[in-house]
Amino acid sequence: MNHDSKLLIDKLESDGALSSGEYLALLAGNRPETAQYLFERARAVRQRVYGDEVYTRGLIEFTSYCKNDCYYCGIRKSNQAAERYRLDKGQILECCAAGYDLGFRTFVLQGGEDPFYSDEKIADIVRAIKKAHPDCAVTLSLGEKNRESYEAYYAAGADRYLLRHETADENHYGKLHPQEMSLQRRQQCLWDLKDIGYQVGCGFMAGSPYQTNECLVADLLFIKELDPHMVGIGPFIPHNATPFAAHPAGSLELTLFLLGIIRLMLPGVLLPVTTALGTIHPAGREKGVLAGGNVVMPNLSPLNVRKKYMLYDNKICTGDEAAECRNCLAGRMESVGYRLVVDRGDYKAVKAI
Ligand code: 5AD
Ligand code: FES
Repeated sequence: MNHDSKLLIDKLESDGALSSGEYLALLAGNRPETAQYLFERARAVRQRVYGDEVYTRGLIEFTSYCKNDCYYCGIRKSNQAAERYRLDKGQILECCAAGYDLGFRTFVLQGGEDPFYSDEKIADIVRAIKKAHPDCAVTLSLGEKNRESYEAYYAAGADRYLLRHETADENHYGKLHPQEMSLQRRQQCLWDLKDIGYQVGCGFMAGSPYQTNECLVADLLFIKELDPHMVGIGPFIPHNATPFAAHPAGSLELTLFLLGIIRLMLPGVLLPVTTALGTIHPAGREKGVLAGGNVVMPNLSPLNVRKKYMLYDNKICTGDEAAECRNCLAGRMESVGYRLVVDRGDYKAVKAI
């Protein structure tokens, strides 16, 4: 292994941060032996904080309507071919009840930005879930809203909010999104969410079109500054009906390397191994856990809508019952020495060593 890469990894572990130049050097030195060392250190850090436990979140994709037009996303509004659906409160509660019986203690409500769900509707759904399952955490992932909306959901009992920042580089942001969206507005949402008291998650796609190592350095610096509780990282995967249909998918190697770096930057971070990672490689999620990941998010959405929430092509698990996915994931985690637990899976604050 390159001596400098090892020093950079050791420094990242002891300080929890590197300079821009050092991150660039580390990313440029992503070779198999370097990656193995990074993953070893990331596993050690993760072991110290979370042991061999892997947290599960039950994901409920409750609407495939979206008013946005992000170039990478299969449910963008311009995709006329996308089938649209909405789940009502009763259906969402049924998903939660089924999930509860399977051992889920966190429900993630994720959807496109769909104005059909007013703040009152969302707050009402959150209250109903918390009433039915007071021992569970509710996570929302509904995109950009104004601060008052986020406050209303929080008052209704929502605990966590996921909003990937997508890229922290202004120029790159403009290449992934239409003009009406802005990096500054998106980041402001994350600061608002944190300020309100949510456990927040940001994140981005590895290998998205036009992404450079400089973009990734901007992402890492932003993540360190925001100091989120969760970071969602998965490979970009093209969707046939989007402007990025012809762009290549992000690589397994890059995604895993980033997971390892983020574990060392934020030892207590909740780091999902995503469905996208499982889509680009059959053992992607196992490898993700071995690179420092500690969360899985199987789908609890009703089977008849699963194929309609296609953010990218070839998404896995769209034909599998929630129970099958849970058992499958439990087996996959055990195969690499970890175990799924029945737990809310809250963030553990830790100090760097
Ligand atoms: N490939 C991988 N991830 C995608 N997302 C959206 N489209 C794609 C794609 N084509 C991710 C975005 C979004 C999250 C819900 O899914 O990062 O924030
Ligand atoms: Fe869904 Fe394996 S996780 S079938």
